[in-house]
Amino acid sequence: MHALIVVSHPDSRSLTHAVARSFAEGVEESGKHTTEIADIAAEGFQAAFNQADRAAYFLQKPLPPDILREQERIDRADALVLVYPVYWWSFPGQLKGWIDRVFSNGWAYDEAPDGTLGKRLGRLAVHLIGIGGADGGTYARHGYDKAMRTQIDHGIFDAGRQCVCEDGAGRHRSVRGCGRTARLRRERLRALFESSAGDDASWRECRVELTVDRPGTA
Ligand SMILES: Cc1cc2nc3c(=O)[nH]c(=O)nc-3n(C[C@H](O)[C@H](O)[C@H](O)COP(=O)(O)O)c2cc1C
Repeated sequence: MHALIVVSHPDSRSLTHAVARSFAEGVEESGKHTTEIADIAAEGFQAAFNQADRAAYFLQKPLPPDILREQERIDRADALVLVYPVYWWSFPGQLKGWIDRVFSNGWAYDEAPDGTLGKRLGRLAVHLIGIGGADGGTYARHGYDKAMRTQIDHGIFDAGRQCVCEDGAGRHRSVRGCGRTARLRRERLRALFESSAGDDASWRECRVELTVDRPGTA
């Protein structure tokens, strides 16, 4: 399988980027899969849905070139992996804008004359890895985990699944100092990638597995 890993974070030294790299390493080291990282912040992806997007949405104009490029990357992939920090219990704005613009009418889905939607990305395996600062209890107590799964997993991807990983503020160790954990984490991430079950157990396990190690902190 070929995985397109989309990362939405402005700082390449962040935990979010470290997790994306670790995910890519874990998936590639099996020798069975290839990966490509799309760093949409570094690439300067313009997130605001604009007039040209709206014309394309109504099928009046072709899609803008930056959107065609993003769709070509996804067309080359068998799996789409989104790695992002949780901001206000959801996607960061840039990633939400990436979805708004890239998942276009006529490409991601079709609307039939009777108003029913036909999904066109069913072949794509979707994996969602959010990195949050709050602990699992906070997500459960307020229903943020359920809300995110309803709105993002089901509302956008339908068959997608998500694990929210605590960033464990203050509990990170340097990547250099925890090789075993990093290795375990890569293996765990690969297992999540290769398994098809999107149940609550994988949600919890991912959360526990990723509470350590962040580059640049000791
Ligand atoms: C603008 C902003 C909003 C945030 N909102 C949340 C939130 O709603 N829930 C949460 O668990 N963490 C939240 N956080 C914490 C981040 O998710 C967390 O610090 C980040 O993922 C840590 O990893 P990083 O090094 O990749 O930034 C927020 C952080 C910022 C900057």
